[in-house]
Amino acid sequence: MSVETWDARYATEDYVFGTAPSPFLEACRDRLPATGRALSLADGEGRNGVWLAGQGLDVLTLDFSAEGLAKARRLAAERGVAIRTEQADMLTWTWPDQSFDVVCAMNFHLPPAVREDLFRRIAATLAPGGLLLFEGIHADTRDHHPPETLFTEAMMPGLCDGLEIRETITRMEERRMDGEMVVKKKLNVLAVKP
Ligand SMILES: C[S@@+](CC[C@H](N)C(=O)[O-])C[C@H]1O[C@@H](n2cnc3c(N)ncnc32)[C@H](O)[C@@H]1O
Repeated sequence: MSVETWDARYATEDYVFGTAPSPFLEACRDRLPATGRALSLADGEGRNGVWLAGQGLDVLTLDFSAEGLAKARRLAAERGVAIRTEQADMLTWTWPDQSFDVVCAMNFHLPPAVREDLFRRIAATLAPGGLLLFEGIHADTRDHHPPETLFTEAMMPGLCDGLEIRETITRMEERRMDGEMVVKKKLNVLAVKP
């Protein structure tokens, strides 16, 4: 979806994806460093970045939607935490090398070639010992995304080249979205940069 479509989607009072973090992210609380830099990629309205800031991390929330980032800043203010925001296209962003202790990469679905390049950038931007916390829609789910943009367990080792996968789980997620309850199968991965 284009940046204009995301801006239009986020131009509401309500938080389209809610304000609670991903349940997988919350379950990884004990795996997070006590301090350090986190990149919350394509963070939308900031639910995950704001939660990471609440865990003591220095968070950069990146998204190309100005509307989403404005809501992320509002959520951070409501929660009494600080986040930095950057409006950028992650496909053309100048990624800093070995800079982040945590990368949260959740719920964006891109064509395979673009996705592979993005995962290479994620691996390069992690500092040694850094964590990737990934979430995507599983290919078993019937969904509006093109099937080739969804994820399977089998494709994760290739995508996470240069990282050590420590955990791969699938789970059913039921949540309210755009005022309706939807159920999706999610794939989550926790990987570490050696
Ligand atoms: C389904 S939302 C997920 C938001 C958030 N990660 C979450 O889990 O709540 C996808 C997000 O990806 C962002 N996005 C998509 N393509 C992007 C790109 N090329 N650069 C930056 N952000 C992008 C959209 O603006 C949107 O906020």
